[in-house]
Amino acid sequence: MRVLVTGGSGYIGSHAVVALMEAGHQVVVLDNLENSAGTVVSRIERITGQAPDFIEGDLRDADALEKVFANASFDAVMHFAGLKAVGESVSRPLAYYETNVGGTVRLCQAMERAGVRRLIFSSSATVYGDPARVPIDEDAATGGVTNPYGRSKHMVEQILFDLGRADPRWSIGILRYFNPVGAHESALIGESPRGIPNNLVPYIAQVANGEREQLNVFGDDYPTWDGTGVRDYIHVVDLVAGHLRALEFLEAQPGSHVWNLGRGEGYSVLEMVRAFEEASGRPVPYRVTDRRPGDIAECWADPSKAERELGWRAERDLATMMRDTWRWQHNQRIG
Ligand code: NAD
Ligand code: WQD
Repeated sequence: MRVLVTGGSGYIGSHAVVALMEAGHQVVVLDNLENSAGTVVSRIERITGQAPDFIEGDLRDADALEKVFANASFDAVMHFAGLKAVGESVSRPLAYYETNVGGTVRLCQAMERAGVRRLIFSSSATVYGDPARVPIDEDAATGGVTNPYGRSKHMVEQILFDLGRADPRWSIGILRYFNPVGAHESALIGESPRGIPNNLVPYIAQVANGEREQLNVFGDDYPTWDGTGVRDYIHVVDLVAGHLRALEFLEAQPGSHVWNLGRGEGYSVLEMVRAFEEASGRPVPYRVTDRRPGDIAECWADPSKAERELGWRAERDLATMMRDTWRWQHNQRIG
């Protein structure tokens, strides 16, 4: 297939581009490089032996999108582009709604005009808010979200369901990611947070690397086995494999579908610290601080729908996630 990948030079998008190219698909990347580096494309070329077509352009620019679809024909779009920092979304809500919601509407309008109606969307377990129970399946209530980022994901889901209901020619796969971590095993692509990392694993990696003094553990009084927050961490390479399966599924069975992409297993913050220490052979000093506002105690997936319908399950274990994160962190540091 010929696939447009928005946000294809970002963390998850770049891994999806590699997986698509390795599976023989033709890829065009659209990214405005707001949160990624122009060098990612050449790193993808080093991994796959071929560079994807790259267009530097903005999702919010209707004319630019028009041109993208006028210049090439696509069978599908994988839509990763967006803003993703929860804390920043509280202080810059309009930017988050403009890019995540407005940008997605513009993208769908351009797809509609071009007659491209197969879309995979990066949603998030954040749409479940504070879940009534774990593991969380796709029928669990959504919408109890406490920040603009999460609300923007929930809004886009609603928009896409409406679109699918209005016109059955659309095939839409909504993928609810749990906590993506890790990096490609080549250590050529991975997550490069700008400034202080918001997420646990990049922060731990920087502590192990000596770039930060210690980890702040946000609370140890949650009702979990060791009092720290529990999440479902999934290797990014497993995550993108789920996207390829979803694409195949949509080709065979059009319509709107939603799948959880997680491992179905939770690890606490302290378990993550220990696993990283083992993988890196470095200490990860930490201190316990107050809870982070908006955090929930525990969140992990019931991924059985994806397993049943897509024939997909995450294969890489925690040790592999940590090993690959460390190799990437280390590789970045040495050049
Ligand atoms: P990322 O920031 O690494 O990648 C997003 C890419 O989109 C970046 O390369 C950025 O430059 C680009 N972009 C941003 N605004 C754009 C615009 N207006 N036009 C064109 N390109 C634009 O983020 P990621 O971690 O790879 O996340 C990819 C998607 O997955 C996002 O939609 C995110 O919300 C979603 N998601 C991420 C996580 C996570 O923990 N990383 C979890 C759940 C869902
Ligand atoms: C994991 C655990 C923290 C950092 C967020 C977004 C969510 C999704 C992924 C996109 C929690 C604890 C963290 C630190 C800590 N993004 N922690 N010290 O909170 O599950 O999800 O990122 O959709 O929308 O909300 O992930 O990695 O931030 O935190 O103790 O410095 O680690 O309290 O228990 P989270 P996270």
